[in-house]
Amino acid sequence: MDKPPVLISEQAIQKRVAELAEQVSSDYANKGDIVLIGVLKGSFIFLADLSRKLTIPRTIEFIAVSSYGSSSTSSGAVRLVMDVRGNIENRHVLIIEDIVDTGRTLNYLIGILESHRPASIRTCTLLHKAEAAEVDVDIDYIGFGIGDEWVVGYGLDFAERDRTLPYIGTITPDD
Ligand code: PRP
Repeated sequence: MDKPPVLISEQAIQKRVAELAEQVSSDYANKGDIVLIGVLKGSFIFLADLSRKLTIPRTIEFIAVSSYGSSSTSSGAVRLVMDVRGNIENRHVLIIEDIVDTGRTLNYLIGILESHRPASIRTCTLLHKAEAAEVDVDIDYIGFGIGDEWVVGYGLDFAERDRTLPYIGTITPDD
């Protein structure tokens, strides 16, 4: 099977992740440690790379939600599958997403995490599809803005395919 065409190269991703890590490290300097909360599954590679480039104390948590399933259309419904395991009360939380599309998942997650009474919540996504936004949600750190297209790689899948591609590629769902 042919590899998906490149939208964002591995080199461009690594450069941008380093820039984001520098920005986050600077913004949180002198605030104590932060807790990075990766949204499964798509964020796992971005979280791994970003977290290792930070220069501030950090711990890692994961949260899992279900939204799209394996189809190419959003049902609009978001459901909590797994909450964070550690205590995040009074901690500075940075939610790590691979992509913000309609904004429903991030909006839902902020509500869930607020109920844990953290000291603060900020949001970070590698990719942002501004044209697809349906819900108004604050995003503090954005890697790349993209158009309304299907993307895979660097953690993102289509029907579980192509998550481990080292770059962001585009696909046509009918492939
Ligand atoms: C993707 C992505 C976000 C969400 C964004 O997850 O990782 O969590 O969709 O879409 P939204 O802004 O329209 O809510 P997906 O449901 O594909 O699960 P996965 O991360 O396990 O692949």
